[in-house]
Amino acid sequence: MRGQIVAGNWKMNNDLSETESLITSLKAQTKTSNAEVMVAPTATNLYSAYNSLKGSGVEVIAQNMHFAANGAYTGEVSASMLKSVGVQTVILGHSERREYFNETDEMLAKKIDAALENDMRVIFCFGEELADRKSGNHENVVESQIKNALFHLEADAFKSIVLAYEPVWAIGTGETASPEQAQDMHAFIRKTLADKYGADVADSVSILYGGSVKPNNAVEIFSKPDVDGGLIGGASLNAEDFFAIVNAF
Ligand code: PGA
Repeated sequence: MRGQIVAGNWKMNNDLSETESLITSLKAQTKTSNAEVMVAPTATNLYSAYNSLKGSGVEVIAQNMHFAANGAYTGEVSASMLKSVGVQTVILGHSERREYFNETDEMLAKKIDAALENDMRVIFCFGEELADRKSGNHENVVESQIKNALFHLEADAFKSIVLAYEPVWAIGTGETASPEQAQDMHAFIRKTLADKYGADVADSVSILYGGSVKPNNAVEIFSKPDVDGGLIGGASLNAEDFFAIVNAF
C-alpha cells in the first residue's frame, strides 16, 4: 500500500549555520507516526545536510534540478550532481518554479524523465490558481498539468513518483483548502490516474497536500482517505511545528 510522507520545503531560507541549527533541532524531535520524513534545504546546503542527517530517518531532498545531464546551463544543477551528494529525491514543478522561473509542463516532463533515468524519486507538484478555483475550472487545470507532465510515462515509473497537490491560492497565504476540498481533489487525481493506468497504479501512488499546512490543521487534513501526507513550507522551518505535523497521522 502507498506510504505516508511529510516533506519540508525550506525554499530559499537558511544559510549553512542556520541549516545546521535547524537540523540539530530536528534530531531532537521524536517521531510517533509511520510517515516518511523529508526535508529540502537550499542547494548549497544539501551536502552538509545529507551528512548531518545520515542515519536519522530524515531524508534530504532537493527543491529543483535541470533536465540536462551537464553542459552550458549556467547556475543549474543536474540529477547526477544531486545524487553525488547523497540526494535521491527531488521536488519538481513547485508553483514558485512555474511562476517565477517560467517552468512549463513540457519542461517538467523532461525534468521528470531525467530524474527517473537517474533512479531518483520525484515529488511532482501542481495545483490551480485562485481564478481557476473561482471559475470552477480547477479540475480541468489539474488534469492537464498531470497529463502533460506524466502521461508519457509507463505504469512502472509511478513506483518513483509522488504527487503533491498544492492549490496556488493556499501556498504561504495562511489559507488552506478545506479538508473536504483537499479530499475531493485528491480523489479526482487518483481517478485521473486510474483511468489511464488502472486502479492498482492509482492506489499505489502517494498524493500529498500542500498549502498552509500547520500543526493545528494537519490532523484533519491527513484524516482524509486520499490525502497521504503533506508538503510543508512555512511550518517546516520550525522543528517542533514540523514534527507536530509529521506526528499528525
Ligand atoms: P506553505 O508552503 O506551507 O508555506 O503554504 C507550501 C509549499 O510551498 O510547498
